Amino acid sequence: MSTPVTVVDVRAAKRSKGAAPLVMVTAYDTPSARIVDAAGVDILLVGDSVANNVLGYEDTISVTIDDMAHHVAAVARARPRCLVVGDMPWMSYHVSREETVRNAARLVRAGAQCIKLEGGRARLGAIEAIIGAEIPVMGHLGLTPQSVLAMGGYRVQAKSADAAQSLLDAAKALEAAGCFAIVLEGVPDSVARTVTDALDVPTIGIGAGPHTDGQVLVFHDLLGLGDAKPAKFVRRYADLRSVAAEAIAAFASDVRSGDYPSDEESYHTTADLGRAFDPPGDATA
Ligand code: KIV
Repeated sequence: MSTPVTVVDVRAAKRSKGAAPLVMVTAYDTPSARIVDAAGVDILLVGDSVANNVLGYEDTISVTIDDMAHHVAAVARARPRCLVVGDMPWMSYHVSREETVRNAARLVRAGAQCIKLEGGRARLGAIEAIIGAEIPVMGHLGLTPQSVLAMGGYRVQAKSADAAQSLLDAAKALEAAGCFAIVLEGVPDSVARTVTDALDVPTIGIGAGPHTDGQVLVFHDLLGLGDAKPAKFVRRYADLRSVAAEAIAAFASDVRSGDYPSDEESYHTTADLGRAFDPPGDATA
């Protein structure tokens, strides 16, 4: 069995220092965690995107710390080799420092080895408090989906010189506060490159171009399990939704035609169960 990935391994994974690009994929339950782990992924994110991908919500702001702890625990039961990151949902770290640390600890007790949270300078207090409790923190800057109301929708961020500079400043502040890696979501590739070059900790991009230290995609997006139109940055490696729908339609057809279950798919007994259990029309019974 290969050695588990730790935050120390991830912290050191800078491409500029010769490291291979980091691969992060989301998963929300035990079977998907087993698939992600078997594929040799480095980091498994139990993302609050469970909201849109599994729980049927429009956005991530409906997800609670209870929901996240439930899904982190399901993923942890797969005992993956990859680093398990628990995503802090909206309003679980915008509260007092004590409550913030308690919420982060819930995800760790559920099986996460570290947590991720969204936001820049406004979240430094939360980040320091969580790191102060010995819980490693992954940052998340740029298009932060929990800010959908404040951003007025899901829009690419850091498109002006001022916005790009404040993203760079925020990334440096998160690194100084002790984040071991930073997700950059929905930012121009040139901005992601400058931020990546300016940091000692790795960046992991999603919709941030090819120059980051790693890439993350959502399980349902890369496997084609979702029904919404994918974002521009999503590359679909399979169309599992069609495969699954065809398989289920074939089952329905076999049930309706009487083809399923067959004799081989049925249990039999040689015991004499009495007349009530004789097959209809069996004259010898
Ligand atoms: O919840 C999530 O899936 C995420 C990724 C998009 C980084 O935060």
